[in-house]
Amino acid sequence: MFDIDNYFENFVKTNKIFEERNILRPEFVPKILPHRDNQIRKIAEIVACTLKNSKPSNIFIFGKTGTGKTAVVNYVKGHLNIQCRNSELPEPKWISLNCQQVNSSYRVLARICNELDPYNPVPIAGWPIDVVFDKLIEKLDTYVHGICFIILDEIDILVKKMKKSHDILYNLARINSRLKQAKVNIIGISNVLNFKNSLDPRVLSSLGEEEIVFPAYNAQELKEILDQRANFAFQRGALAHDIIPLCAALAAKEHGDARKALDLLRKAGELAERRQSPSITSDFVYFAQNDIEKDKMKEYCESLPLQSKAILLSIYAMQKNRAGNAIITGDVYSCYLELQKQIPGLNKLSQRRVSEIIRELDLSGIVNAQIKSNGRYGRTKFINLNIPLEDLNKYLLNENRLNDLFDYRPKCIGSNITCFKGQKYVKLG
Ligand SMILES: Nc1ncnc2c1ncn2[C@@H]1O[C@H](COP(=O)(O)OP(=O)(O)OP(=O)(O)O)[C@@H](O)[C@H]1O
Ligand SMILES: [Mg+2]
Repeated sequence: MFDIDNYFENFVKTNKIFEERNILRPEFVPKILPHRDNQIRKIAEIVACTLKNSKPSNIFIFGKTGTGKTAVVNYVKGHLNIQCRNSELPEPKWISLNCQQVNSSYRVLARICNELDPYNPVPIAGWPIDVVFDKLIEKLDTYVHGICFIILDEIDILVKKMKKSHDILYNLARINSRLKQAKVNIIGISNVLNFKNSLDPRVLSSLGEEEIVFPAYNAQELKEILDQRANFAFQRGALAHDIIPLCAALAAKEHGDARKALDLLRKAGELAERRQSPSITSDFVYFAQNDIEKDKMKEYCESLPLQSKAILLSIYAMQKNRAGNAIITGDVYSCYLELQKQIPGLNKLSQRRVSEIIRELDLSGIVNAQIKSNGRYGRTKFINLNIPLEDLNKYLLNENRLNDLFDYRPKCIGSNITCFKGQKYVKLG
């Protein structure tokens, strides 16, 4: 039997890993941000005119995920606010929206209104958009006595999803001409580097008055970022000397993501702590990496559209019931046709579209779709899941419409007919 009291006692006695684990959390803003001097300086130079009560230029910030965009903006914000207070100027108002969560033009405007005046909220839907825009102008002039910074994080999502967002962005970028008292500055952040190409040139010229690029970190830079955080986060002796270089190297191998490097280090520490180990060894880093990969796969599966989930489920059902035998696109399609009839509200896709989705799943790494040459029968794509069956089962649990289908045994398994480019063929041997 697990001796829980003994476990807790030992935990307190042997807990020699963390000094302050919150320092490794993503929301923590460190006092210094190594290797971001250039970006901090550029943003500071642009926003400094706030201290003379002038409106800074709008800014576009580009950089892959985990390259410090949010951290740098928050860092500059903190220092600018202090300077305003010291100079007895009104502190700027900062409104930050993540366009992944607030993903329609209406909701962006309504959300800004409601941040300014939470006591008289604009309804989340229902008003004509120009009425919400007029309301926003009224609220800005009433509640802002200086500069209002509007940070639109993941702005590319807004543009991709909403054709009308171009008009809204254009009007937002030009809003100052309609304001009597307040001044608005827009900071757009995107981790899609070529996102500019998809922007209406009018929007680009007014929103992207200044552009700042955040390059990915290399292994050495990540190592210095981790060193600086680890100094305060861990107890003395908790880290073997090779741990930080290992976390930095693993994160640099992906795309130089500081969040990934910090997550690896924190998770490795937590695993060592749970096992009541006196220090973090490289094994814990590899375990942590494994856990992070699993979390990422789960998040990816949960965010897939229902059609892709149905195709994943078809591969699952074929693999589960056909232990060991090869699965080809035609098999997946036959199984998909059976499942599609049982999933409420799911349209039937063509085999070509299903093939494309399998290719996307292959690119994400969740499925392995390998083309093999079959001698005189041509080239065939062999498909299998890249994760254990039971893991996929867990990752798709949140999709109620699929819940009853995990034990489904495809009828096409007993048949020697397969589909290929819309035609039915008899399988050979
Ligand atoms: N130069 C740095 N020094 C110290 N910590 C850093 C540095 N750059 C990034 N970090 C840390 O890495 C994590 C991720 O950074 P941040 O959230 O700023 O990335 P991002 O570029 O905004 O990513 P995303 O595009 O996913 O929003 C945060 O915990 C942040 O504190
Ligand atoms: Mg960010």
